[in-house]
Amino acid sequence: MAREQFGICAEPNLHSYYLMFNVLDNKNKFIRKALAALPELFDDYADQFSESNLNAVIAIGASYWDEYYPKAKPIGLKPFAHMQVEDRFAPATNYDLFIEIRSDRADVNHVVSTKVCDLLNDGVELAEQVKGFRYLDGRDLTGFVDGSENPKGMHKREVALVKEQDQSEFTKGSYLHIQRYRHNMNLWQTLEEKQQEDIIGRTKRDDIEYASEDKPHTAHIKRTNLKDNNGKSLEIVRQSMPYGHMKVQGLFFVAYCHTPENFELQLKSMIEGDGHGNFDHLLKYTQAETGAAFFAPSLDLIAEIAA
Ligand code: HEM
Repeated sequence: MAREQFGICAEPNLHSYYLMFNVLDNKNKFIRKALAALPELFDDYADQFSESNLNAVIAIGASYWDEYYPKAKPIGLKPFAHMQVEDRFAPATNYDLFIEIRSDRADVNHVVSTKVCDLLNDGVELAEQVKGFRYLDGRDLTGFVDGSENPKGMHKREVALVKEQDQSEFTKGSYLHIQRYRHNMNLWQTLEEKQQEDIIGRTKRDDIEYASEDKPHTAHIKRTNLKDNNGKSLEIVRQSMPYGHMKVQGLFFVAYCHTPENFELQLKSMIEGDGHGNFDHLLKYTQAETGAAFFAPSLDLIAEIAA
């Protein structure tokens, strides 16, 4: 039975290191072997620093997939598409590979990231690197708890992982979307607490969801809490973390799902709104600067592809 990459459904950590690479020409064979060597490297470090709760995810970019594994493709995998309505936009900056390293120790992440870069070095260029951190009790830098309505327990696995009946070859894999959002903290801080709460749709201090009738149509959770025709919630597993320093700050958004559609529909609903001019007002205070789509294959498939 296929095993998923453990970072996909792991509980939140204190620190993260996100590495985005583009693969050099004629390096596909090298990349397949190098990626297949990574899970053992992660296991060794997880063992050596067992208190750090180290976990990782290796994901293949939509535009690189055909070179990585020409034999078959995850059915819904396609490059992140630029989206824009008026001044609200989500740029596409697709990458060939994404490696997410998370643990409760920034130094351990640094050691592991260095090893990953050393191992891949001959076949890639590092396109972007972002270090994330847990902020207070799991809050985004806007001050709101992020992740409260994430699926929990076994349900998390149901939401995040491709099932046998979806596409058997890719069982226990996961569709991944990332976006690096940059917040306009100065503008956000001009708002009263109640105005901020109306934008999110939850209270700030206690993280309580607004009653349905009080939720503005422009609230972030109104725009992202979507249902299908049978009334079933279209869920994703968010593993986002804040990043930044004194000049640039924001959220590194990370979402896993057994289908790419849920994220696509939520992002569309944020940017395009509900057809009555109600777009997500959080977008007035934050701007996506990157956006990319990947597939994180099962551990077994990563090994099989390299063989
Ligand atoms: C909920 C922050 C981007 C999807 C939330 C919540 C916060 C938040 C504070 C409420 C607590 C929770 O349930 O986690 C942010 C920030 C973002 C961002 C600061 C960017 C700067 C996105 C994007 C998507 C998304 C791009 C998907 C396209 C969701 C979903 C929920 C949620 C599905 C749960 C809604 C519910 O069922 O109540 N987000 N988010 N978020 N967000 Fe975001």
